[in-house]
Amino acid sequence: MNTFKKDVLLGLSESPRWLPCKYLYDAKGSDLFEKICDTDDYYVTRADLEIHEHQISEIAQLIGPNAHLIEFGSGSGIKTELLLSSLRAPRAYTPIEISKTALDASVTQLRQRFKSLEVQPLQADYTEDIDPSHLTLEPSAQRRVIYFPGSTIGNFTHDQARAFLARMRKMAGSGGLIFVGVDLIKPVNKLLLAYDDKAGITAEFNKNLLQRIQTELNGRLDLSAFEHESRFNHELQRVEMHLVAQRSTRIEVDDHVFEFDRGESIHTESSHKYSIEDFQTLAKDSGLNPMRFWLDGHAQFSMHCLEPV
Ligand code: AVI
Repeated sequence: MNTFKKDVLLGLSESPRWLPCKYLYDAKGSDLFEKICDTDDYYVTRADLEIHEHQISEIAQLIGPNAHLIEFGSGSGIKTELLLSSLRAPRAYTPIEISKTALDASVTQLRQRFKSLEVQPLQADYTEDIDPSHLTLEPSAQRRVIYFPGSTIGNFTHDQARAFLARMRKMAGSGGLIFVGVDLIKPVNKLLLAYDDKAGITAEFNKNLLQRIQTELNGRLDLSAFEHESRFNHELQRVEMHLVAQRSTRIEVDDHVFEFDRGESIHTESSHKYSIEDFQTLAKDSGLNPMRFWLDGHAQFSMHCLEPV
């Protein structure tokens, strides 16, 4: 049985029902996510970019020359280009990305833009352990720098985020640095709108998951019976995306039948929001020393520089 089917059958059997957020990002979902980033309501992308634009020379100075920059994600964006063009004589750049298409596209673009840069892509799931030999350089770099902008760390639970930071620490090694983007706590109405934009793109992004069940698993379901909803979970300080049944309905996959009452939901993604102090505590718990952080002009988003202790 393929893992998507296994995870769907498992998540829909549990109470509350849930599906792993990684399944939101097929080709159509990734396109829709790009479109979300361009909406006025999703402030995250603009705030993250603003920090890069204003602070890049300080960030590049902290990194210094001859660094091996390792990015978690494909790095085809403007932020990576900004950073690479600000670094002094970078030793090499390694984007780590699971999707071969995304990785190839980014590598082609970066090799064209930075002709003398050594680009050593690695097709892998960066949430899993990575064989250190894939990151070895000969001759070695001055230091390793792990770069994880955006706010994907918010999609992990606190336990997962701690474990993830501890793995980044190991990968960076002594003398290394870690740069991570973290979205901040803010008024709930602003958060809810960011995850339920007026143009309805986030709703389409979330409902694409049901479409995948229909097309890839031959699932029988009534798409119109579900609506997208963004909710704020105060206890866990996170925005949650849900698909909520508007009437009693069912999803059938093979001979498995999942009955939904009206109002019952499938939880599809969480986006944890932090205060600066809470995130720094999480970093310290993972063996990292918070060195510096930067904010955008409206203090909506943060970029942290951490070093292994
Ligand atoms: C990918 N990640 C950082 C986004 C977020 O803000 O949690 C995913 C997203 N989901 C809905 N809108 C954006």
